[in-house]
Amino acid sequence: MSQTALITGITGQDGSYLAEYLLSLDYKVHGIVRRVALEEPERRLGRIAHLCDRIVLHPASLESYPSIFSIFSRQQFDECYHLAAQSFVAESFADGFSTMQANVSGTHFMLSALRELQPQCRFYFAGSSEMFGKVRETPQRETTPFHPRSPYGISKVAGFYLTMNYRESYNMFCCSGMLFNHEGPRRGFEFVTRKITSGAARIKLGLASEVRLGNLDAGRDWGHAADYVRAMHLMLQQPAPDDYVVASGETHTVREFCDLAFAEVGLDYRKYVRLDPQFFRPAEVDLLVGDAGKARRVLGWEPKYTFAELISEMVRSDLALLDRRTGGGPGYENPQLSAQPQAVGKVSQ
Ligand code: NAP
Ligand code: GDD
Repeated sequence: MSQTALITGITGQDGSYLAEYLLSLDYKVHGIVRRVALEEPERRLGRIAHLCDRIVLHPASLESYPSIFSIFSRQQFDECYHLAAQSFVAESFADGFSTMQANVSGTHFMLSALRELQPQCRFYFAGSSEMFGKVRETPQRETTPFHPRSPYGISKVAGFYLTMNYRESYNMFCCSGMLFNHEGPRRGFEFVTRKITSGAARIKLGLASEVRLGNLDAGRDWGHAADYVRAMHLMLQQPAPDDYVVASGETHTVREFCDLAFAEVGLDYRKYVRLDPQFFRPAEVDLLVGDAGKARRVLGWEPKYTFAELISEMVRSDLALLDRRTGGGPGYENPQLSAQPQAVGKVSQ
């Protein structure tokens, strides 16, 4: 019998890939969307436009316990993937209070409503390698102590322990993924990878002359979001709940990312990347590299994309996107992005 899943953050990068993946497994997929003023469905639901006629969307917000409670009181779920969050580290320095509110209280609201109404529903929490922060060992694994370096990192540590506490106190099936950076053509433009690939594409097409960045020496363990959502699903299929690191096991600097992205369009990044103090952070996470040995062993998870393939796909996709917007042909068509928004989805009342 087909399973029913709820995804919070379905309009985000991971939510869109996860919805696609669960639909391919014949799940009934529901998602939470928050209302925004000046609603523009084409933009607002851009990442899931091609799925809208196959999913059910519920209006709710992480700031409102009643809105979450109301969904669980109306619809039964087998699995709940809690991905919604203020996910941009830099913004968490600018407004730590909103980040805490959405990420900590929002997670607590989810867990509390589930415990009250559907304690049998399996729960996934989107933990992060930012929890390791100023790393105490390399590579980082499930047992590495936490040392978060931003309000965002702190909020994810709190969410991780809330999830663990509901598992231990109420015997609920609650898991945390400790996911390292994962990207793709649907990544938000504020994150460094997309800023670089879209910048390289704009420069190649003569639409820009430079990209302004901060710390080029930071090291990250970058994978592809399409690979990482499979790990989320696998965690909820196990006989017992547990927490897992999901990572590629390789680390690369922002500088290396620039080098490969610009090389993809035949340019030398050193001529176009400028340092800008506004993009440096008050406290930096210098180096992340994960050991996903447990996920590989227990879940049987393996990533398919290499670092070079990830960058190549992102750059080609950004070229295609700009080419379409500037009236060019389908030159670099990417089928995953080419679906034009048609429907706005069934928003349940
Ligand atoms: P994303 O693209 O920024 O998506 C965030 C999602 O959360 C969006 O759907 C957003 O909805 C929703 N959201 C934010 N605040 C909300 C609120 N107050 N109420 C309801 N919905 C809200 O993030 P992502 O990259 O897909 O990441 C998914 C999750 O994994 C996040 O929790 C993130 O912190 C975590 N994570 C990500 C990575 C990574 O490298 N991508 C690594 C580790 C952990 P709107 O469309 O309305 O803004
Ligand atoms: N965003 C951004 N913009 N980052 C820059 C820039 C810039 O102009 N210049 C250098 N960087 C550096 C940042 O200082 C950081 O060291 C690195 O690039 C990556 O920054 P982001 O892409 O913003 O990602 P993040 O690592 O801070 O956080 C992402 O990964 C986490 C998992 O480790 C987010 O997806 C988080 O939600 C996620 O938990």
